[in-house]
Amino acid sequence: MSNYHIKSFEEYFQVYRKSIENPEVFWEEIAEEHFTWRKKWHNVLSWDFTKPEVKWFEGAQLNVTENCLDRHLSTRGDKTAILFEPNDPNASAEHITYKQLHERVCKFANVLKSKGIQKGDRVCIYLPMIPELAISVLACARIGAVHSVVFAGFSATALSTRVNDCDAKMVITSDGSYRGAKTIDLKGIVDDALEDCPGVDAVLVAKRINSDINMKTGRDHWLQPLLDDAYGDCVIEIMDAEDPLFILYTSGSTGMPKGMLHTSAGYMVYSAYTFKNVFDYRENDVYWCTADIGWITGHSYIVYGPLANGATTVMFEGVPSYPDFGRFWDIVEKHKVNQFYTAPTAIRALAKHGTELVEKHDLSSLKVLGTVGEPINEEAWHWYNENIGKKKSPIVDTWWQTETGGIMITPIPFSTPTKPTYATLPFIGIQPVLMDENGKELGDNQVDGRLCIKYPWPSMARTIWGNHQRYKDTYFSAFENMYFTGDGALRDEVGYYRITGRVDDVIIVSGHNLGTAPIEDAINEHQAVAESAIVGFPHDVKGNALYGYVTLKDSGENRDHDNLRKEINQLITDRIGPIAKLDKIQFTNGLPKTRSGKIMRRILRKIACNEADQLGDISTLLNPEVVDEIINNAI
Ligand code: WT7
Repeated sequence: MSNYHIKSFEEYFQVYRKSIENPEVFWEEIAEEHFTWRKKWHNVLSWDFTKPEVKWFEGAQLNVTENCLDRHLSTRGDKTAILFEPNDPNASAEHITYKQLHERVCKFANVLKSKGIQKGDRVCIYLPMIPELAISVLACARIGAVHSVVFAGFSATALSTRVNDCDAKMVITSDGSYRGAKTIDLKGIVDDALEDCPGVDAVLVAKRINSDINMKTGRDHWLQPLLDDAYGDCVIEIMDAEDPLFILYTSGSTGMPKGMLHTSAGYMVYSAYTFKNVFDYRENDVYWCTADIGWITGHSYIVYGPLANGATTVMFEGVPSYPDFGRFWDIVEKHKVNQFYTAPTAIRALAKHGTELVEKHDLSSLKVLGTVGEPINEEAWHWYNENIGKKKSPIVDTWWQTETGGIMITPIPFSTPTKPTYATLPFIGIQPVLMDENGKELGDNQVDGRLCIKYPWPSMARTIWGNHQRYKDTYFSAFENMYFTGDGALRDEVGYYRITGRVDDVIIVSGHNLGTAPIEDAINEHQAVAESAIVGFPHDVKGNALYGYVTLKDSGENRDHDNLRKEINQLITDRIGPIAKLDKIQFTNGLPKTRSGKIMRRILRKIACNEADQLGDISTLLNPEVVDEIINNAI
């Protein structure tokens, strides 16, 4: 028997050791005993981080949806697969059983085929958190199409950039979406985006808010009539282990967003295995991850991981603040949620509103609490532990990335003793190392470690879509023969890891990964702007907020600065989305630069964080005189 479900700290160590000493034997057992294969692999793993190239389960054939749906039909056909909780608290929840989900995915898959989608084609999904989102993802996987979900809070420009980068043939969207008391015109955004996307020849539109929208003849199709006419069974496309499953974009410190490519077998095995153990999922549990499927958290831990385990996974359409800040706890009580997985920023926002709304609800069903997306501060950790978990539910602080596909550093609940702000120990099969700036491996309790992983794991991204060189440069060039995460970390004397934050120019705002470059590009489009630089500074709810330093072409005294600030934030909203708006904008006469002309963000960061007294030596700057002026006018 393989160790599919770890039940004690001793067992964790035992299994961990096995997974490191003999990774191929270990993963082969997990894969063999817990998944359905059409053909077995001839090689468990081949890898070379210098190329880089990684292949898991080579030679195997499978379909991920057979594992997520078909194989459960005989034993769990009437069990709820997806429990959909709509935005409107008075509308009833929808329980979609495995049988129903299977049928709806098959119908959707047949619709995709009827519109010409074939194995390997890219399909862009731009939908709110409604069942059609999960169903369309699975429908793509069923026929071997590569889905690329774009979070439906992104702007038209951000959408068209992603559609074009992956050369999607089709976009799936809805007329609009609900967001608390507001509605959003999604189809209008898609129409704008597609002005710049000549490669898209079909748009499928789900009806959600019954708004009056434009349907472009020949291109746009209402989804429901097509589904009504579609046949309720669809044979699986048989996929090779390393065939692409999906592309998901994530921000880099510079340039275009990176289309991380995940492949079929390894991703499925690792997302399923981590789900089972990190949340200690048991057969009749109700599991809820509050993320959006537009992010990797939703891919791995709303859709693929839970469904591969035959779990009941909650999908919530709304926001934590509607109709009030008690909504999460209302849902936990109503559906007797057992595992609850959210982001530190949500915890901080809820904590701000006190415990009154928490105490109104029965949270006794909760067994495991999770967090993800950014370091959780001590105060938020204790609030979560005391008020939500009542000190009885272990908190799993899970560190991972879009690139890693699944959870990498985490406690195992009821096994690993937790420690606030520590993600604790590597998950089974994961071999982290801390490196210093010069490529030397660090020991325990040393500062400024860069977190790297020195051995492949099944769900690692295989490339950046269309740009393998960038994949190599970004992740495999900083340290020899290692995957570099971009995060700083330290390890304590018992081996627990604490993630300290990004060491590059990526800033995490409310758990969203934002690269500075695209935001600066958006600002620089303003005709009055000469140049700009963005840094992060601590924010009590968002974790980090954005501080922009903007130099104007003509710094005339009589400029209306407040109006300029509004215009700049509007540009950012249009180009990226409201999540990237700046909290503070300071107009400057110049930005500190090195002699080679590079903006010294380190200095700007210190100033934004009110640490101007710790600037260190600035005499080597090209223009040290601008620094005083910036400090004096800091906001
Ligand atoms: C970055 C990845 C993985 C799902 C959500 C984010 C930060 C993530 C933690 C954590 C400290 C964390 C890292 C990482 N991060 N989880 N538990 N503790 N930092 O995915 O958008 O690809 O962002 O999020 O900085 O590199 P992502």
